[in-house]
Amino acid sequence: MSASFVEFHDLRKSFGAVEVLHGIELAVQQHAFVVLVGPSGCGKSTLLRMIAGLESITSGFISIGGRVVNRIPAKDRGIAMVFQSYALYPHMTVRENLAFSLEMAKIKKDVMKARIERAAGILHLEPLLERFPAQLSGGQRQRVAMGRALVREPELFLFDEPLSNLDAKLRVEMRVEIKALHQRLESTTIYVTHDQVEAMTMADLVVVMNDGRIEQSGPPLDLYDNPATMFVAGFLGSPAMNLIKGTVATDGSAPVLDVGDGLQLPLPAGIREKPGAEIVYGLRPEHVSIGPPGSGLPATITLVEAAGWETHLYADMGQHVARIVSAERLNVAHGDHVSLVPDVSCAHLFDATTGARLSID
Ligand SMILES: Nc1ncnc2c1ncn2[C@@H]1O[C@H](COP(=O)(O)OP(=O)(O)O)[C@@H](O)[C@H]1O
Ligand SMILES: [Mg+2]
Repeated sequence: MSASFVEFHDLRKSFGAVEVLHGIELAVQQHAFVVLVGPSGCGKSTLLRMIAGLESITSGFISIGGRVVNRIPAKDRGIAMVFQSYALYPHMTVRENLAFSLEMAKIKKDVMKARIERAAGILHLEPLLERFPAQLSGGQRQRVAMGRALVREPELFLFDEPLSNLDAKLRVEMRVEIKALHQRLESTTIYVTHDQVEAMTMADLVVVMNDGRIEQSGPPLDLYDNPATMFVAGFLGSPAMNLIKGTVATDGSAPVLDVGDGLQLPLPAGIREKPGAEIVYGLRPEHVSIGPPGSGLPATITLVEAAGWETHLYADMGQHVARIVSAERLNVAHGDHVSLVPDVSCAHLFDATTGARLSID
């Protein structure tokens, strides 16, 4: 087990009187690929800029490689950052763009040349070295921006939504390239995105942020399978988890959830909440299936998306909209009346007020 490389302790940030980060605690292992993910405005860029030294620390501390960096200027932190806007110098060629920060750091000419060649090789930039940024495609500019970070041979790579300006196909290609690059170089990386698919596919450790706090952190599938809060449950996964609010009741001796319109969802036998408690029932779309008529909850199909390798269905179930994903090509159409069968063993239960996960005996 390698030592933790970056640590945050009770890290806070205020702009004027407004606190936007509320006591961040996190340890990042050396060589890890960590993705900070959360909705726009939750504080991801602010946190990244504080690591880089571009934003002051209001209280708490950040350490990198065992050294507290609160008072260390950006240029001495051993960090390279790639931004959403690639910020290339338009009047410089690709080669000059790559060389610029090394010249500023007074790196020797022969070392500089070797580093540029190495970065250009890794990122397939050799044929582009004499071009200007205006002569490059979006994906090529993005690779130059990464090259500029790479030549500095940083101990820590920071990325702030580097793929947001690319079209969908290129985004997927660059996602694979960045991940492959990390597997080769093993530089500790902290990557910010609002895209949960990027987080799930790229990260060793996903950190879900919401409103200036960490909701949960862990390996991607741990968070997917065991979301600690309703926010994490709803944020990760597409189509999103079904989250249905209701009141605990009993049907004979079996616990059920009243969800209105006379509909009752079966609850796990081990539920601890007493009848009358308000809870939220969470179920991934892949854990709902269509059963024989009368076998489950009556619903009406409103939308069918045939994605090819799977089918996404939306159905009205009383006042609720149910999302269903099937690996099969289902023979259903808009307007069909179906019977939905939830896999109760896969249900996630949450406190309706706090959003915290409820444990089941
Ligand atoms: N320089 C600033 N001055 C005042 N408020 C700011 C500044 N930068 C960011 N904020 C606020 O801090 C919060 C977090 O912003 P940001 O870190 O950019 O979020 P994200 O990157 O997750 O979208 C937002 O409410 C934003 O308006
Ligand atoms: Mg941002």
